[in-house]
Amino acid sequence: MTSSPATPGTRLASRLGLADRVFLGPSARRIATRVEQGLDLVEATIAAEVKVADSIADAAARYLYEAGGKRIRPVLTLLTAQLGEGTTPAVVDIATALELTHLGSLYHDDVMDGADTRRGVPAAHAVWGNNVAILTGDILFSRASQIMSRLGDRAMRLQADTFERLVLGQLHETVGAQPGDDPIDFYLQVLADKTGSLIAAATQGGAIFSNAPEEYIEPLREYGEKVGVAFQLLDDVIDLSADAEETGKVPGTDLRAGVPTMPSLLLNTSTAADDVALARRIDDGVARIAEGADAEVLDEPLAELRDNDATTRTMTLARTWTADAIAALAPLPKGTVRDSLTRFAETLADRSS
Ligand code: IPE
Ligand code: IPE
Ligand code: MG
Ligand code: MG
Repeated sequence: MTSSPATPGTRLASRLGLADRVFLGPSARRIATRVEQGLDLVEATIAAEVKVADSIADAAARYLYEAGGKRIRPVLTLLTAQLGEGTTPAVVDIATALELTHLGSLYHDDVMDGADTRRGVPAAHAVWGNNVAILTGDILFSRASQIMSRLGDRAMRLQADTFERLVLGQLHETVGAQPGDDPIDFYLQVLADKTGSLIAAATQGGAIFSNAPEEYIEPLREYGEKVGVAFQLLDDVIDLSADAEETGKVPGTDLRAGVPTMPSLLLNTSTAADDVALARRIDDGVARIAEGADAEVLDEPLAELRDNDATTRTMTLARTWTADAIAALAPLPKGTVRDSLTRFAETLADRSS
């Protein structure tokens, strides 16, 4: 059914140090085993859902799925489901549908960002062209909707509301801050919408579809959204990382395409002469690339941005959002699941890929 049911857990353990860092102690290990077993079920369900009768659609739809991915959203769904009746069939379905939504959004995002690589392989549009990549994303969204419709109204509403926010986040990022908007606040809202909304759906989904107490849902939503913002801020730092091997993406992809990230926005707020000069060089580089210059013209300025205080401040900001995410869990009962969610947030804040 799936390429290797054991792979996702192994990958999570190695990439995020989940086994060692999130699930500490015997009772946490029991939860970890349940999450790993749930992940195998989700993995098998996704593998079945990316199959399409049409051969081009089939190859394109399974392409990025088979390329890898950390499965952060399903892990969170499976984890919060342990606050209720555990890994119910509905929990597996909601985790699958949300991961398919994430997967579809990656096909579209790489077209929008002009990204060459994703998950360590050429982006789908680089293989099949923009149209096939966009339509493949659409097929994956359809599959997610089909699953949600089997789960009923609440799932459909969660999917529809989440997807609208994700799309609006992408749209607002594309059109950029308008006169009167504070660029930093605007950007944080973009992150909450494009990434936080889906992670929040994942944390809520596990609780809702395992029949956990209703009063857990709002704290989990807030936690998921804030973890998502922290995660995306870290993504901006990772975007500047020189190690493409580790990230599976070309360093500086977003900035080279003129997509602002938090380090560049914070750099723009600095009045120090060196920072102003660096910001100008980055702007010039982006303009030259847009006119057809080689993307390498930004190699040096981006390396300087990586070592600039603006990048350190982005990491500090990510840690603040992580701390706020953890604080949002206060209404949940103390125990293994809450501890694991806490450590999950801390582990994400330390990630490098
Ligand atoms: C990448 O998400 C896109 C964002 C919303 C930042 P992930 O970093 O979770 O991507 P995969 O699934 O592991 O490839
Ligand atoms: C991706 O955001 C967000 C969605 C897919 C909704 P980014 O464009 O910042 O993420 P990466 O760096 O390509 O993964
Ligand atoms: Mg992108
Ligand atoms: Mg993007």
